[in-house]
Order: sequence, then structure tokens, then C-alpha cells
Amino acid sequence: MKITVAITGASGAVYGVSLLEYLLKEKHKVNLILSPEARLIVHEELGVSWGSCYSETAELLKKRYPDTDLVYCNETDMTAPIASGSHPIDAMVVAPCSMKVIAAIAHGLSSNLIERAADVTLKERRPLILVPRETPLSSIHLANMLTLSKMGVWIIPAMPAFYNHPKTIEDMVGFIVGRVLDRLGISNQTYTRWKEEIT
Ligand SMILES: Cc1cc2nc3c(=O)[nH]c(=O)nc-3n(C[C@H](O)[C@H](O)[C@H](O)COP(=O)(O)O)c2cc1C
Repeated sequence: MKITVAITGASGAVYGVSLLEYLLKEKHKVNLILSPEARLIVHEELGVSWGSCYSETAELLKKRYPDTDLVYCNETDMTAPIASGSHPIDAMVVAPCSMKVIAAIAHGLSSNLIERAADVTLKERRPLILVPRETPLSSIHLANMLTLSKMGVWIIPAMPAFYNHPKTIEDMVGFIVGRVLDRLGISNQTYTRWKEEIT
């Protein structure tokens, strides 16, 4: 599949990075977009540096994910192929998705490539999956998510389950990444499903 993955500046960078790595491992083509805040939070939460600007990040990602179908797009480049509906994409995932980006998508702002690619995904009626992270949620956040849900957007909040008895952070992340992959129609065993044997 050809999937656009955007990582924004909400807590939970591990969700976006794990999803990216799973898709690349399974030989999917990924267009990746990062917001500047996402770069900071990858560093803060995962302890790895993805650089401080587009060109530095591009170099680092090339080394980190060699021989993969990864296309890293500049967040400010509104001329990127994915800024146009004429560019074929199977789906877009924003993980984690900040409340700022939820608001921008719900209101069609398109002020950077993440928002524009999401707007294009909506107008082309392609699958759009958002993994929001914030707590508590205000009425504004909830109203924006309801607006998007009514348009057919899948809202998969970063809310891992406990019925599968997670033992590690990886287990909890695998649950959310697996639910996203399920929506994309990509078979996976990144989490233990209800009534499956717990290992
Ligand atoms: C450490 C840290 C954690 C944050 N966590 C969240 C979060 O969970 N959800 C959220 O909506 N914003 C969070 N923010 C605030 C966003 O980063 C901020 O609103 C930013 O402008 C979002 O920009 P972006 O969506 O373009 O990445 C966090 C900021 C920092 C520094």
C-alpha cells in the first residue's frame, strides 16, 4: 500500500514511529511528514535525535531506514505530490495527532503539508485515521473529533486496552498500532486480541 504517515507534536511519538517501522518492514510505501514539534518530542520521549530541521532529519532517516520505500516530505513544501488529490494514496494516518492538527483538519485550514494532505485525503474520500492524544479533552476537542468522525474519519485514540494483560510499553503501543493496521486492512499480530491466548 501507499500510505501517508504524519507525526505531530502530541505525546506518544512512539505510536507514529512504531507504525512507520512496521509499514516499512512490511514493504509498504510511506510518505512521512513530521511537524517541528514532533521532532522535539521524538527526542524527548524516545531519546533519539531526528535532527532539528528538514535536511538534517532527511539525512538521519536515510541512514536509519536504508533500502526502504520511505519518502520523507518537508512539512512546509506545499508542492509535494501528496498536496494534490491527483497523487494516488491509499490512506493517511496521523499518529499521534495533536489537538491543534485535529482542529485544523476539522476546519479545512491546510496551512502546512500535514493539514493539506489530510484535507486532500478527505476531499478525495480516502481513508483518514487519526490517533489523538490529550487529556482531559475540552468540548472544543470533542466537537472537532465528532465533526471528523461524522465525515467518516476513524478516530483511534491513544487508549490501550488492559484486557490483553500488557506487560511492557511495547505491548501497549502494539495494541494501538495494531488497531490502526486493522483499519488499513493490513494483517498483523502486533497485539493480543480478546479471547486470543495471552502469552
Ligand atoms: C512534551 C510535550 C507534550 C505535548 N503533548 C501534547 C499532547 O499530548 N496533545 C496535544 O494536543 N498537544 C501536546 N503538546 C502541545 C503541542 O506540541 C503543541 O500544541 C504544538 O503546537 C502542536 O503542533 P503540531 O500539531 O503542528 O505538531 C505537547 C507539547 C510538548 C512540548
